[in-house]
Formats: sequence, structure tokens, C-alpha cells
Amino acid sequence: MTLGVCYYPEHWPRERWEDDARHMRELGIERVRIGEFAWSRIEPEPGRFDWGWLDEAMDVLADAGLGVILGTPTATPPKWLVDRFPQILPVGPDGRVRGFGSRRHYCFRSPDYHRETERIVDALARRYGTHPALVAWQTDNEYGCHDTTRCWCDDCRAAFPAWLRQRYGTIAALNDAWWTTFWSQTYGTFDEIELPEQAVTESNPSHRLDFRRFASDGVVAYDRLQRHAIRRHSDRPIVHNSMMLFGDYDHVDLAAGLDAIAFDNYPLGQLEESPLPDDVKERYLRIGHPDLVAISHDLYRGLKDRPHWVMEQQPGQVNWAPSNPIPADGAVRLWTLQGFAHGAEMVSWFRWRAAVGAQETMHAGLLRHDGTPDQAHVEAAAVADELGLVAVAADEDAQDAAPARDVRAALDVGAEAHARRRPAVAILFDYEDLWAAEIQPHARGFGYWQQVLAFYAPLRALGLEVDLVPKKLAGRPVGESEGEGGRDLSPYLAVIAPAMQIVDDDLADRLRAWVAAGGRLLLGPRSGAKTTSLRAHEAAPGPLRKLVGARVTRVDGLRPGVTRTLRLDGHDAPLTYGTWADLLEAEEGGEVLARYDDPAYQGAAAWVRRRYGAGEASLLGASLDPAAMTTLLASWLREAGLDPRALPDGVRRSGGWWLNFGPDEVRIGALVLPAYGAVLAGDDAADPPERTARG
Ligand code: GAL
Ligand code: ZN
Repeated sequence: MTLGVCYYPEHWPRERWEDDARHMRELGIERVRIGEFAWSRIEPEPGRFDWGWLDEAMDVLADAGLGVILGTPTATPPKWLVDRFPQILPVGPDGRVRGFGSRRHYCFRSPDYHRETERIVDALARRYGTHPALVAWQTDNEYGCHDTTRCWCDDCRAAFPAWLRQRYGTIAALNDAWWTTFWSQTYGTFDEIELPEQAVTESNPSHRLDFRRFASDGVVAYDRLQRHAIRRHSDRPIVHNSMMLFGDYDHVDLAAGLDAIAFDNYPLGQLEESPLPDDVKERYLRIGHPDLVAISHDLYRGLKDRPHWVMEQQPGQVNWAPSNPIPADGAVRLWTLQGFAHGAEMVSWFRWRAAVGAQETMHAGLLRHDGTPDQAHVEAAAVADELGLVAVAADEDAQDAAPARDVRAALDVGAEAHARRRPAVAILFDYEDLWAAEIQPHARGFGYWQQVLAFYAPLRALGLEVDLVPKKLAGRPVGESEGEGGRDLSPYLAVIAPAMQIVDDDLADRLRAWVAAGGRLLLGPRSGAKTTSLRAHEAAPGPLRKLVGARVTRVDGLRPGVTRTLRLDGHDAPLTYGTWADLLEAEEGGEVLARYDDPAYQGAAAWVRRRYGAGEASLLGASLDPAAMTTLLASWLREAGLDPRALPDGVRRSGGWWLNFGPDEVRIGALVLPAYGAVLAGDDAADPPERTARG
């Protein structure tokens, strides 16, 4: 467990740096991330580098015993660079150039920007690659933020046909995959193909999906370019900081090339921006939603199946949500502990001191505008103290051996701990399925995150821990080298696949083998509906039909607010669903576990299971509401031999920690959880769960 902070020495007078650095150490902070937006200070004019200030900053931080995570400054190309090479600017689908004046104003596929990136990253790595204070690199900052993954510039237009040729080989194969006979879309050559989403109405979904893939590959290739430039001069670990519930590029591909993956955790900003109902937003106004935050931890940890980092942790109010409430007292401490409870190796607060000017003036830091401690500082000190990190920071001898110094070793130790606490349940996750849901939602409110959370949140409320496993790696042989990693499913008792629309034979084979060996697979609505090019399988769930013993005959897409019910075998009370219903028909070996009530299709099966080999697989067609999903999952998990038990509202368990996101103290057996508090008590601490809340 390591604490960090994001710091911008270039924002503050030189006289302050020593005080800041000493102050960080006193607080128990061991790592500091700097530099990620500093290009114009590093290279004020083309080819003229001003290293003096950064040399000094590195030395000051090193002298205080801090380890530096150095960001490459490519998220903010300077004005002179943009004026010299205006063609690096990204272009929107409407053809409008997105100009200078904020950040991320570059196209991932611009050859000019590739050259400029390589130049600055090479120079930076050459200068600091072996600096004793350097513990890791961060490439760029939040790839894809501000809707920048896809770009419609001339360079992208020029590169797309070659990417398609690589994928399909012949134009006939593309025409077939995209089913271009429809609306007379047939192409004669690859070069004819333009970028989608500029058409009169909806562009061909297969075209759009391939454009998503193309854009995602562009991000990953751009990161690879940065990594190669760094590696010429430095062997320190390389990470990138991604965002919460963000899926515009394939993070599995990105993570494969990185030594560790980080994300930026802003629970309140995220809650305000989320589509959650107002009463839920009200309840979690000052603490954020426990499951929205937790799923990011589990997702990012799952990308590499290793400990992850929180590179930026919200310290107080943010500036970018539609409204920006103050967090509850205790929130910063709880978020920090939640990160460690979910297996993070580092939590690093953003930012040290609130900015006194420019776009983020209204964003809190650990210190206020005037440099005096804000509430987050109080909580940072408390959490560092209780984790024993202040003592480590103060002990000169311990410092050299401290994990902050050797990030690789720290992550390895964490990986062993992670392997020991492997949960029984996994959710399969896939970015292409996410894009498929965005491209053809078919029912307003149908979204991939929403479908994943529909399973994830009830599992968490039932006291379970969950791994998120990348679908494309699931059941493949475990490999070491870039892009070859596989993920063994055999440790999991049960696996859930929400909205897994895209299924090919290879995936079906991997899942079938795991089920035959004793696994329990639950497919959510829309599973197996589409091929890899988004054509329809003749009947969903496509290649998984035999495994679940059912096929989908029709699908029902319901407006938000419309709900219907279904009957689960052995339960009297009806279960409520909305948004989506696959109408199922049992086939060979299939056993109907639930049926719909709606007169429009009364009697159609809603959940069908087949026992297969030593395991079982089932297809759930309906998008259940939280209470219904909890009922269904509880009975399914019990059958699997697990012991799900509802936790009190707002309470969650992770890694032996009990976390309370509610505003009242909660007692569970002998365990007392303070409001917005966390207690490390082990998994059996509160057996049997019961609630006597105060207040
Ligand atoms: C992040 C970003 C930071 C800062 C922060 C404010 O998305 O990486 O640079 O803008 O948000 O909350
Ligand atoms: Zn472009």
C-alpha cells in the first residue's frame, strides 16, 4: 500500500518546492506524479529545451525521499507546435477542427504528431530515464478523454482503408461482412470507403464497429510508440491513467503493453454525470455510489490480473460535473481505503494544491488555494497514519527498502496477494460488446455499463467479491508476452456474461470447455445475437445455442419507465423487468426456469438452463430490476454452493474490509461500522449479518 499525490511544480514559486516536498513526506506520501502537461515549459520554442526547472524539481523531490512518476506531456502540444503542424488537430464527425486552448488537441493517427511525440518522449526519457528518483512513467494522460478517441481528419480518412484491407483481405469479404447489398452500399475498392457517421441517417453498424476498432487500435499503437521511445533509455515501469466507466478504446489491448494500469477515481463527479435515478443520487450525493466506484477497481485490476493504481483520487469538490457537491467528512479516507480493499497498490490524490487560475480553479486539492490544509489533508493524514505509512516515510532506513522505490517488486508482491483472494464469481467484460450496445441500443436506456452493473451491483450487495475478466482472454492459455495473455477460468465457480452480443465459435468453444468441466455460466440479455462484424446470428445465442438449450425467437425493447413481470420457478412473487426481453424457446436439453407474464407473449420462456457435462449454462432473457436480479442471483448462487447474504444498505465487503457508504453507523453482529467508515475485520467478522442502524 502506497500513497501518492499529483503535483505541478511549474505552477508554484520555486521557493515553495522544498516545503511542499517535505510536507508530502510528513504526510506519508511516497510517490508524486509530475510533468504530464508541462510541454510548453520543457520546450518553450521548437528545439529549445529548458530542463533547468525540471532537473531541479526532480532533485528536490528526490532529496525529500519521494519517488517520481513522470508523465509524458503529450496530452497538451504547445501552441507553436500546433501552429507549425495544424494538421495534427483532431476533427469531429461534422468536419469541424477541434482547436487549441484546452487539451487533447491531437489526432492519434497523425504522422506529424507521431514524429513530434517521439521527439519529446525520447528527449524526456534520455534526460530522466535513469534518474534515481524516477520510479515509473505515465504515458500521456487519460487517452480518449473529451471524446477524442475517434477522429474524422484527413489522416484518419487516409488510414482507414488500409486498416480494412488488413482485416478483410478482399473487398468481397468486407461487402459480405458488412452486408452491403442493403441500401446499395456495395464497395468496389477499399479506397472508396469513407469514415462513418457522416451519412444522412445511421451509418451501417458494421462500418461503425470497424471504425471503433480502427480508432482503438490507433490509441494502442500511439501508446506503443511512446513506450518504445521510453524503452530506448529507461527500464522503469510504464503505466497509463484511464478513466472510470470509459470504453471508447479497448483497454485490454492497451493494458497488455503496459507494466501496470491506473485509473482516475472521481466518485462524486461520476455520480453526478451518471444516469442513476435522482433518489439514488441524493442518497450518495456526498460519498459516491459504492458499486460505480468498486467496479472500476475490479475492472482495472482485472485487465492485467494484478494490482492496479489509482493515479488520481478525488480530494474534495471537482470542477467538471454539472453540479459539484462537497464530499462528506470521511469520504476521502473511505475512497482511499476502498482502493486498497479492492487490491490497488497505490492511491494518489489529485492534486496537491488547488490551482489559482485557468480551467480547474474550482477544483479542490489537499491544500487550498492559499496553501493551507483542506479537509482532504486531514483525512489523508489520518489514513496514512492508520495504515502505518507515516512511520515508514519518517524512517530513513526503511525508505531505501520501501516499495515506493521498487514499483515492480511492489506490484509482484501485490499480485501474489491478489491470487490468494480469487473470488468465486467472475463477470466477462468486453469493449466490442460495449460498442455493439452503443451502436444499436434498440431500446432507450439499454447500455453496456448498465447491463454489467445490473449483475455486478446485486452481487456486491449480496456480500460477494467479483473479478472482471476480459472476454477475449477468458479460457485462453495463460501467456506472458504482449498480447498473448490468457485468463484461466477454472478457479471460478460461476461466470456471468452480461450483454455479450458478439460471440464467435472460438469463444463458444472456450466457454463450452469450461462448463463441461464443471463451470456455471449465466448469459444475460442479448447474448450471442451478433457475429464479429455485427451481422445477426441466425438465432441468438448463436454458437452458444446448444450449450444453453435455448434460442431467442423475438426481442422486446421497452421505453424507460415501462416494466413487466415474469415468474421464476419456485417463487410466488413476480419479478420485474424493463428495457429488454429476449423471448426464449427451450431446445434440446433446455429446462425452462422462468416465464413471462405479458399477454403480448405470455408463456414465452425468460430463463432457460441446460446441464452440460459437469456444469450448467443458462440464458436469462430479461433485463431485471435490482430486487428481481437479487432474488434470481441469490437462488442461482446458492445452487452453486455459495452463501450469498444481503448486506445492510450501503455496506460492502472487499479484501477483508467492511465499508459503509451510508450516513449512519451500522452494526452487523459484533461489528460496528461508523458512518462513511471502513473497518478491517476479515470476511467472517459479521456472521450472521443483521442490522441495527443508529440515527
Ligand atoms: C482528470 C484529469 C486531470 C484533471 C482532473 C480533474 O480527468 O486527468 O488532469 O483534469 O480530471 O478532476
Ligand atoms: Zn484523425
